[in-house]
Amino acid sequence: MDIKTYLKEKRELIDDFLEKYFDSPLKPDVLKNSIVYSLSAGGKRIRPVLCLAAYEACGGKSDEIVPYAAALELIHTYSLIHDDLPAMDDDDLRRGKPTNHKVFGEGMAILAGDALLTEAFYLLSREDSHGENPARIPHSAVLKAVYEVAGGSGRYGMVGGQAQDLLSEDEEPEAETLSFIHRCKTAALITASVRMGGILACCNEDALSGLTRYGENIGLAFQIIDDILDVEGDTGTLGKTVGSDEKKKKMTYPKLYGIERSRDKARELINGALEALRIFGEGAEPLRAIARYLLERKN
Ligand code: IPE
Ligand code: IPE
Ligand code: MG
Ligand code: MG
Ligand code: MG
Repeated sequence: MDIKTYLKEKRELIDDFLEKYFDSPLKPDVLKNSIVYSLSAGGKRIRPVLCLAAYEACGGKSDEIVPYAAALELIHTYSLIHDDLPAMDDDDLRRGKPTNHKVFGEGMAILAGDALLTEAFYLLSREDSHGENPARIPHSAVLKAVYEVAGGSGRYGMVGGQAQDLLSEDEEPEAETLSFIHRCKTAALITASVRMGGILACCNEDALSGLTRYGENIGLAFQIIDDILDVEGDTGTLGKTVGSDEKKKKMTYPKLYGIERSRDKARELINGALEALRIFGEGAEPLRAIARYLLERKN
């Protein structure tokens, strides 16, 4: 299969939905502009795409769950806006454009993030998301999906990891803390995204545990690659300023292990992710291709 075409098609499903979803007027205008600015700046949409691919691996058709998958991107985009704030990573460039607070100010950037986080749960829980989808996802599965996303993004997941990331600035890198940071700040939401696809498809326990292992492995690999790209990527291609981690004295994989060993670790994790999908057939080909693509990504 051609993974580039697959990713583009699925990304467009999410982009089209988000564009329409935020089309209606909102007062004050500047709040809407701030939200739409970050949301429409690009981005790989990898979390929603993973959710769609996992749903497909469990026998679903991905256009049935687009609103649910799109909710993941709202949470992710909020996390980026807040991550870039002066009080956190203090970055000026995101998705190839000036960061949200550079354009709208810190107060509005915080509020745009707050609104996106809240909107994700508004979207996940609204009757419409159910009514719109021909698959008629049972309410019990939607409730489980909400629980999953809340868990992955909150204090036991992304927010917890971001807190430890901040506390570990200037600290000597240490394997256990580093792994905790990366598993929480990045792998938790990625795992929740993959699991959500299985949950919405009402998959069995074996399938869900395979998806979980897949998500945990690619999730950690994703952040290791992000760390590597911050060292040897290209600002133009990446859409964010290379060298930001070194400047902020972040605890990263390259800092502890060097580039080559970090890359080896990412490769092992991707192999682990592929292994976790062994119980799946042809339907999981996109998930497999995404895992391989993550090792090669340049942005
Ligand atoms: C960047 O995420 C932040 C991390 C968790 C590493 P992405 O690399 O998915 O960023 P976009 O959404 O494509 O901009
Ligand atoms: C971010 O990690 C993780 C988030 C939850 C946003 P980074 O701080 O390394 O992400 P980038 O490099 O700024 O995208
Ligand atoms: Mg950060
Ligand atoms: Mg950052
Ligand atoms: Mg980074």
